[in-house]
Amino acid sequence: MSTSLKIKQTEQKPIDIGVARDDRKELADVLSVALADTYVLYGLTQHVHWNVTGPMFYGLHKLTEEQYEDQAEAIDEMAERIRSIGFASPGGLHQMLAMTRMKEIPEAHEADDMIRLLITGNEACARSLREAVARAEKCDDVKTADLLTERIGEHEENTWMLRALVS
Ligand SMILES: [Fe+2]
Repeated sequence: MSTSLKIKQTEQKPIDIGVARDDRKELADVLSVALADTYVLYGLTQHVHWNVTGPMFYGLHKLTEEQYEDQAEAIDEMAERIRSIGFASPGGLHQMLAMTRMKEIPEAHEADDMIRLLITGNEACARSLREAVARAEKCDDVKTADLLTERIGEHEENTWMLRALVS
């Protein structure tokens, strides 16, 4: 009796959610890149939030706060989705930088340049996520596709609001 109890406590039942293991692995990789891209954009958005100066200070300071708070939630959701489909989530700046597609990050000091930097970053995230959604749909992982689709909408809205400040 003690042996069977021990088996129950230590044996993991395989994940059986209707998405094959290989597909879940592919999606975990896709989600990891999306997570890393969002992480880099999160850092960039905070950089602007802290350092912006000039007449646009208050508006941009507030807008970037809303955006990075939303990105922080998204980072958590993507990491937890990776766990839900059975894989380890990346963590820490080194892993994020190794995985992100957003390698080239120019410096920006003026408010206008900072806004353009964030527009570029949000657009890059949206493009990267669009590919990720296509792969999630191919694997019938509707939950991952839904999560990533929502993120595309957020990045497009961010881009609209940032563009409106400089138009
Ligand atoms: Fe703040």
